[in-house]
Amino acid sequence: MVQRVRTAVLISGRGSNLAALADACRAVDYPAKIVLVISNRADASGLETARERDLPARIIPHKNFASREEFDAALDEELRQADVSLVCEAGFMRIHSEWFVRRWEGRILNIHPSLLPAFPGIRVHEQALAAGVKVSGCTVHFLTPELDSGPIIAQAAVPVLPDDTPETLGARVLAEEHKLYPEALKLVAAGKARLASGRAVLY
Ligand code: GRF
Repeated sequence: MVQRVRTAVLISGRGSNLAALADACRAVDYPAKIVLVISNRADASGLETARERDLPARIIPHKNFASREEFDAALDEELRQADVSLVCEAGFMRIHSEWFVRRWEGRILNIHPSLLPAFPGIRVHEQALAAGVKVSGCTVHFLTPELDSGPIIAQAAVPVLPDDTPETLGARVLAEEHKLYPEALKLVAAGKARLASGRAVLY
């Protein structure tokens, strides 16, 4: 029997990466299980994904809190109450306080739809097409206080085709995200990747 690491997934929207992670967790030998889904938006369609898969879900609307710190404190409380050991951000559109990121350092992962450090932030595929890159992709990294710049755990590349739009490139990258995130979570949950001296170390 594998020891399954109790994992939370934070979402704000569609939740297709949540679905990919949840599907991976069905394998008997997968080293993580999703014990909690948290959305900061009540209208996130990913909440339906959680319901369909019988995953416990909470809504914590960021607008109910006066500051980033207070919102993060509520988030932290939910994660602790659920006895969570790892957190995966999957399209979670809030920047955290430094306090929260430090508290979860090495235990919180994020996925970004570019080959970081290229194209952090938003409108990522527009940025890639404007730069004329011939290859793009996705990155799973440990979260750090600086946006989209934490130590890289895993990446996958896709070609950028001459007639690509942000939508066609985004769809090609997203298909890779759905494979990469479960692989990266598996590495971390199984203890084969960890944060050490500010770098993601893979064994
Ligand atoms: C993904 O492209 C992810 O890389 C980015 O936000 C998007 C979330 O999509 N951070 P989904 O909600 O998982 O479908």
